[in-house]
Parts: sequence; structure tokens; C-alpha cells
Amino acid sequence: MALSSLESASRLFKSQPNTDEVAARDAPSGKIKPVILVTGCSSGIGLALAELLEQQTQYRVVITARSKSLEVLRSKFRESDRFWIRPLDVTSETDRNRLLEEINSRWTGVNVLVNNAGVSYRAVVEHMSAAEELDQFDANYFGPVALIRGVLPSMRKIGRGKIINVSSVSGMLAMPTMGSYSASKYALEGISEALWYEVRPLGINVSLIQPGFVRSKSFMNVKYSTQSGPEHPSTGLYADYYLHMTPFIERLMGLSLTTPQAVARRILKTIQRKNPPLWIPATYDAEVFYYLRRFVPRRLLLEFLFATLPRVRSWAKAYTKKRQR
Ligand SMILES: NC(=O)c1ccc[n+]([C@@H]2O[C@H](COP(=O)([O-])OP(=O)(O)OC[C@H]3O[C@@H](n4cnc5c(N)ncnc54)[C@H](OP(=O)(O)O)[C@@H]3O)[C@@H](O)[C@H]2O)c1
Repeated sequence: MALSSLESASRLFKSQPNTDEVAARDAPSGKIKPVILVTGCSSGIGLALAELLEQQTQYRVVITARSKSLEVLRSKFRESDRFWIRPLDVTSETDRNRLLEEINSRWTGVNVLVNNAGVSYRAVVEHMSAAEELDQFDANYFGPVALIRGVLPSMRKIGRGKIINVSSVSGMLAMPTMGSYSASKYALEGISEALWYEVRPLGINVSLIQPGFVRSKSFMNVKYSTQSGPEHPSTGLYADYYLHMTPFIERLMGLSLTTPQAVARRILKTIQRKNPPLWIPATYDAEVFYYLRRFVPRRLLLEFLFATLPRVRSWAKAYTKKRQR
């Protein structure tokens, strides 16, 4: 008698779902909660999205940041069985593999990947070194693409999934002093477009969120190359470029009507839409640029945008050898 009650107690114990299994199901509907992985949550758009997702109990969420910024997340959010905080430097293969292994083994894979982390170098093309170029691409292109490769197998297995890449207006139009950043976002746009065709038959969606200027302090996080320096060269050929472009960009960001929270809401909507489109302009200026790019002949658009650059006619005036027209 004692043995059989022990056996039934142990059967009961075994049939008790563990906390991961409990966290996997939405209590009222009994449906499996999709798993969302977000990169770069320590500030700006990623932080705003993490705040939104914390309230969305119908999902399991993994918010991530580089180790140096993890404390920011730990001080703002409370971890739970359905809301994890994990270190992830998107450029680190070790970090990526460790995290995906944990998610795959405990939660059977990522259903929605939000590649948000990004950095932006501020330097003219001639002031970037090959190593700096690689650093730019590591964070904005190679890292996100490696993560995509990491999550695709589990998405394919269930025939569903969403890949949301945070791109930029700089992925449709380039600006002086932001060439490498633009190139990295153009690359992200290019591969996302190819991927859209490849994974559509597999039931997987790909979307590019394209913010333009966002009213935030993220310009304080821009990186400088050794030659462009935080103080910028104040004399020489490119001095005017930095002198005029830096405050110009900061002013446009300050004037923007769109906040990181608004972009985060757009990403949440994309997560919730059944079939979101590939290109999603996420600020008012991005909408304008999207249509300008589509409908205005590019040669004219280039001339028009050149004329809007601050004091552009005086740039490098003392240095040019171009023929007088
Ligand atoms: N703000 C804008 O006007 C704007 C416009 C267009 C597009 N975007 C894009 O929007 C995305 C978010 O930018 P944001 O405006 O929110 O800028 P932000 O406040 O500077 O946030 C960037 C985030 O990326 C993280 N990050 C940088 N390198 C990383 C790495 N190697 N691994 C993991 N995380 C890394 C940063 O974390 P750490 O604390 O570790 O540095 C930070 O949390 C970026 O892809 C950006 O290109 C922004």
C-alpha cells in the first residue's frame, strides 16, 4: 500500500509540467506562446520594445544586451519564466551559440527574431580604415545575418516564423559622413530581400523596419574612426563636412516627431500582423523618402538632396581641383 502510494506520488510528480512548460502556454487559451528574441535592448528602440514586450504576457521574450550593458536591463526589468534577460554581443559567435542552444533546448527555438542592435560610424569614406569598416559590418550585417542562420532551422521545422531586421532610411539613401553605416544597412536590405523570396515558401516572413530620424539621444552613441575622431578634424579638406553635417543630423533628430517608443510600437504591430510586408517605413520622413526614392528619378533626387545639405557649396572649396564650369 505504502509502495503504491509512493509510485502514484512519483507518477504525479513526473506528470507535473516544469516551469518552462508552464511558461510556454497562454493560460486562458492554452495556446503555445511564441518566443521573441530581441537584440540591443540597453537603449533606444530596443529598450522601448523590451518595455512593451514585458507587458505582452502572451509571448515568451528574451531581451539581450552586451555584458557591459546587462546591468541596465537587470535594473529595469524583472526576470520570470517567460521573460529572460541574457547577454548577447551579436558579433560574438560564442554568445550567439550559447543563447540559441539555451533557447532551443528549453523553449524549442525562436519564433520571432528582432535584429535591432546596431552601431553607426560617423566618418567620411576616406577616414575609415578596413578594420573600422569590418567593425561596422560586424554589428549591422554579419552578426544579424549569423543570428538569422541560427534561428532558421527551428522556424523551418514548424513552418512558421518572423525575421524582423531594423534597417534605416540609410538603407535606401546614403548621406555624407555616414557611408559605412549606409553600406551596412544597404547590405542588410539586400540580403533581407533575397531571404524574403527564399523563406516565403517555408511559411517564414521577413520584414525591414526603416526608421528615419528618431527623436532620441542615440547620436551620442555614434562611433568615430581614428581619423574622424570625436572632436573631428577642425582643419583640412573634410573639416566643413563634419562641421556642418554633425549638427545638421542632430537637429533633424531633435525635430523628429517619432520617438523610440513609436518605432517599438511599429515593431510590435509587425510581430502581430499575419503577413507583414517586407519594407516598413517607421517614421514620417522615412515615408517621404520611401516615395521620393520610388517615384522621383534618382539622378534628380541626388541633385535635390545635394542642394539641401548645409552650406554644401562651400565644402572643400579651398581644396578642389575640379575644372571651372
Ligand atoms: N535612432 C535613429 O535615428 C535610427 C534611425 C534609423 C535606424 N536606426 C536603427 O535602429 C536600431 C536601434 O538603434 P537606436 O536608435 O535605438 O540606437 P541606440 O540607442 O544606440 O541603440 C543601439 C543598441 O545596439 C546595441 N549594440 C551595439 N552594438 C552591439 C553588439 N555588437 N551586440 C549587441 N548589441 C549591440 C547597443 O548596446 P550597448 O549598450 O551594448 O552599446 C544599444 O542597445 C539600430 O539598428 C539603428 O541602426 C536608428
